[in-house]
Amino acid sequence: MTQDFKANELRSYWMPFTANRAFQARPRMIEGAEGIHYITDDGRRVIDSTSGLYCVNAGHCDPHIVDAIRQAAGVLDYGPAFQFAHQGAFELASRLAMLAPDGLDHVFFANSGSEAVDTAMKLALAYHKARGEGSRTRFIGRERGYHGVGFGGMAVGGIPGNRKAFGQQLPGADHLRTTYDRTRQAFSIGEPEWGAELADELERIITLHDASNIAAIVVEPVAGSTGCLPPPKGYLERLCAIAAKYGVLVIFDEVITGFGRLGHAFAAERYGVTPDLICFAKGLTNGAVPMSGVLAGCGIYETMMQGPQFLPEFYHGYTYSAHPLATAAALATLDVYRDKDLFARTAGMEAEFCETMMTLKDAPLVADIRPIGLICGIDLETGAQGIGARGYEAMQRAFHEQDLYVRVAADTMIVAPPLISEIGDVAEIVSRIRAVLRTLR
Ligand SMILES: Cc1ncc(COP(=O)(O)O)c(C=O)c1O
Repeated sequence: MTQDFKANELRSYWMPFTANRAFQARPRMIEGAEGIHYITDDGRRVIDSTSGLYCVNAGHCDPHIVDAIRQAAGVLDYGPAFQFAHQGAFELASRLAMLAPDGLDHVFFANSGSEAVDTAMKLALAYHKARGEGSRTRFIGRERGYHGVGFGGMAVGGIPGNRKAFGQQLPGADHLRTTYDRTRQAFSIGEPEWGAELADELERIITLHDASNIAAIVVEPVAGSTGCLPPPKGYLERLCAIAAKYGVLVIFDEVITGFGRLGHAFAAERYGVTPDLICFAKGLTNGAVPMSGVLAGCGIYETMMQGPQFLPEFYHGYTYSAHPLATAAALATLDVYRDKDLFARTAGMEAEFCETMMTLKDAPLVADIRPIGLICGIDLETGAQGIGARGYEAMQRAFHEQDLYVRVAADTMIVAPPLISEIGDVAEIVSRIRAVLRTLR
């Protein structure tokens, strides 16, 4: 059998969330990484201004994390996740419980943000059922939310493009409106002053469906993937209070906001609220090995610990839950966060980061800028070719002409540099973005 690898070289790999044909016409290849840089196939050092996909919080190829993974691979390559365990999994769960808000003491491991969200949703259903409230099956998400690509996460997610090809999805999902309103908050730094009252819509939706039918509300504290949408001041507090009043669980999807992005281990701490479940992923292992999980409160855990001793209490799990390599990567990553004090460092840098990002206000085509923590959305005016064309061009030009990797969502550029970045690095990112914006049509 002959195989024409050359002809098929770029077509065999069907790339995720990628314009495959455009990529094949002009590939963007990354072959190495170090600190805040990527190294391209032609040897260029490109600034990674979005921490990969918001995961490389400690910077690339940190030696402590690399060594931990190398070492783990030679000791226990894989162990069965069901009915057996290894010491590292317990250590990691305990350390995460210590970082989490008080009361969130139990950790269920998965491998991706999508799996974490689906796990949390299944936990919510199982918990209500175990308490004799099995009619609580509906979920409430929010417009412009992103919760991954599983059927659960997609259903509560609020991105039309991610939903339109997939029919019914999970029945019974409803959505709060987005908190973003440019007419009221353009160019605000951090949490906008306006909009806490939008949380009251939760009460309307709960009343509409009746609380006895609602399992949980799923929200990102700061919506990340659709362009960094910080919550209005007081909004999350109000949302949590309404949910609690009706026995509706609150699931915080902290896949992006976890591990320092907002200056705390989890954003829940920034807002002084304790959700019932927190989903995390990405920054957990610094992106080095896939791993995610869900933090659950004691009430949920204890309620689920029922039935015969020889049967699983929760019929759910993944072959690679608490994988030894991922566990080693996560433990080492937590060491680095602690030793470099990266969460507090981010909190200390936030004001300067926000000011630096705001200097783009007078750059061509900028319609809004939303910085918070160490993440910032920069909306560009949509061009004549339609939504997404200008953002795509900006990403391409940044990579090929300015040695800058920046994530775009439609016409929004999202800057979220590794937490080890210096303010000078942020200024450099801004200057390269400005150079890109000058060239856009
Ligand atoms: C808030 C949030 N939830 C879930 C996910 C899905 O994570 P994954 O791509 O690891 O499945 C993402 C990914 O960006 C995310 O930002």
